[in-house]
Amino acid sequence: MGRKAVVTAGTGGIGLETALGLAEAGFAVTVVGRNAERGARAVERINARGGEGARFLQADLSSLDEVRALASVIGGEGEVDVLVNNVGAMFAERVEIGGVEGSFVVNHLSPYLLAELLLPVLADRVVNVTSGSIVTAKKVFDAVEPPGGYYGFHWYGRAKLANLAYTLDLAQRLEGSGVKVFAADPGGAATDMTDGTLLSPKIVSPGLRVLWPLVRRTFEKSTSGPAAVAARSSIVAAVGDLPSGTVVGRHAVPVKPARAAADPRVQLAVRRLSERYAPLQRVADGVSN
Ligand SMILES: NC(=O)c1ccc[n+]([C@@H]2O[C@H](COP(=O)([O-])OP(=O)(O)OC[C@H]3O[C@@H](n4cnc5c(N)ncnc54)[C@H](OP(=O)(O)O)[C@@H]3O)[C@@H](O)[C@H]2O)c1
Repeated sequence: MGRKAVVTAGTGGIGLETALGLAEAGFAVTVVGRNAERGARAVERINARGGEGARFLQADLSSLDEVRALASVIGGEGEVDVLVNNVGAMFAERVEIGGVEGSFVVNHLSPYLLAELLLPVLADRVVNVTSGSIVTAKKVFDAVEPPGGYYGFHWYGRAKLANLAYTLDLAQRLEGSGVKVFAADPGGAATDMTDGTLLSPKIVSPGLRVLWPLVRRTFEKSTSGPAAVAARSSIVAAVGDLPSGTVVGRHAVPVKPARAAADPRVQLAVRRLSERYAPLQRVADGVSN
């Protein structure tokens, strides 16, 4: 039987290009997204590119209940070779999802929960999609949100840092199990996510706002490329012969992980937050999400 891959947020942007690449590499790919029409179009494109048996599953991955439902459907079908946790989001204005700050939910808790719930059926590897924005993140994880004002770009980066710390932690946890764990940084691309979200100086801290014209030009330049190029790092992480725990950087080659993500104290703090805000089993009186 052919190898099976799941790509979250795989019906557009970098996720669709990742799914196309995996289909070309011989995987039967499941793409996950919210919009069924978009999903159908993605499946058509993947199968036209030589993919076999691509399919769409509908789930809003900003809802942890929908993540659980998705995991239960996929997990009930037997082994999955590769899970690419590609979903991500940046919010210019602060949002809450089930009482938890939104960027932490979509960029960390959701991929964390999906990976944990699918571990029993994972045959080969998990790829978590990271971002260069982690360099701007506050590295304290006592709580879901650091103190102080909300700045969308930094909060996005901090959630991605949490997810990278989790990725490295998980790689250690699964050592010797046969399941490998990778992070992939796409660099940047012109996608729905970057379209319009990087235009307001409000997304960065006051310190960076002083340099806004320069910062904005940097954002524009780094997110102007095609999603197909950005997807290469995820594809390399998904099919490459690399040691578990490797971070595949924006040029699709291994890079050194950010120091904060490899810090055991950060990993422990992230683990505690993850277990608290995305419990593997839904309990009636537990934290709502
Ligand atoms: N673009 C960049 O410059 C850049 C740079 C660094 C890292 N990244 C990371 O790369 C990954 C992909 O980025 P992208 O720019 O391709 O994102 P994107 O433009 O938001 O991706 C669009 C895809 O995501 C799906 N999607 C969005 N929200 C979803 C949700 N809540 N649940 C399920 N599906 C959802 C969309 O389908 P529906 O609308 O039908 O749901 C569509 O398939 C993210 O993790 C992002 O953080 C991106």
